[in-house]
Amino acid sequence: MATWIHHEGLGLDVSSAGELELAVTTGFPPEHMVMHGNAKSPHDLRAAIRLGVGRIVIDSTSEIARLAAEVPSGTRQKVLVRVVPGIAAGGHTAIRTGTEDQKFGLSLVDGSAQHAIARILDQPGLQLTGLHCHLGSQIATVKPYLLAVRRLVGLLSRIRQQHGITLPELDIGGGHAVAYRPGESLLDIEALGTRIRTELDASCAAAGLPVPRLTIEPGRAIAGPAGIALYRVLSVKRTGERTFVAVDGGMSDNPRPALYGARYAPRLLGRHSPADRQTATVVGRHCEAGDILASDVQLPGDTRPGDLIAIPVAGAYHLSMASGYNMVGRPPVVAVTEGRARLLVRRESFADIRSRDVGL
Ligand SMILES: Cc1ncc(COP(=O)(O)O)c(C=O)c1O
Repeated sequence: MATWIHHEGLGLDVSSAGELELAVTTGFPPEHMVMHGNAKSPHDLRAAIRLGVGRIVIDSTSEIARLAAEVPSGTRQKVLVRVVPGIAAGGHTAIRTGTEDQKFGLSLVDGSAQHAIARILDQPGLQLTGLHCHLGSQIATVKPYLLAVRRLVGLLSRIRQQHGITLPELDIGGGHAVAYRPGESLLDIEALGTRIRTELDASCAAAGLPVPRLTIEPGRAIAGPAGIALYRVLSVKRTGERTFVAVDGGMSDNPRPALYGARYAPRLLGRHSPADRQTATVVGRHCEAGDILASDVQLPGDTRPGDLIAIPVAGAYHLSMASGYNMVGRPPVVAVTEGRARLLVRRESFADIRSRDVGL
């Protein structure tokens, strides 16, 4: 993925030393990377400095001095400040990050963002290049982004008044909604592009500021619809009113339905079924009754063990959130294009799992 992202001329967000190291080993230029994280460890910060990450997003006041202490003397690390603009947007509270009542960023309202900015400007090893915000995920309308632009330009203007500096960069995060099921609304990316540009130009003109370089951070809008999760049916159970179709994966490869009720539209794949559709619940194989991948979906009434079930729009926050629950092993990743398939990541084997266990 990192190689493809590089070939497309895009930058890359990383949120740990692990993601950073992996991207660097593929040859991805570190200067085109941005490091995020509400709680970066000393190891993360050291790796970011050592490998030359382009920008580090400051997410808490306490990391300013810790980061500055790692910067070799005579050099400067570019940083952005993650601002909480006080905007509620996104598909679920667990993925809303633009409001005050969550763990990310520094508040505009209580002055934490302004305080952090002053602290950064006091550090000779840090170069503040701009502001960042990420409102959340699954945002289907342009309006919250326009409001965020207005509020961040307002802050850019206050920074110029108070500190006499004009910050050249603005990063407004991602969160562009994709449709997981037919009929769901998605964000109109072209409208987002045009309207944000217009808003940014107008807000900057009104404040007498030069227009900063704008960055956006689409995540799932790129990778989500490109991926399909394939499961093998292991059992079909009819209990009272319900039909449970149990597959060979579940919350260990996709915890989203269990975490925050994400909904999918599974389909039978690989054979044509003449049977009528029936309401079924697709469940995983793990030791939790809440291990449900998709409840109350329509599947052929003759769905049986051995069948393949496809879950579309599984290219983001799926494998990346996979766990070792029940030692089932994480699934492989296969790239498919124009009738050709190529293994990219192999299935996690028992030997992989066993190799970490050093014994008594
Ligand atoms: C800072 C930041 N930018 C961008 C994204 C991408 O969000 P999405 O995949 O919903 O577009 C995330 C998601 O967690 C994020 O934390």
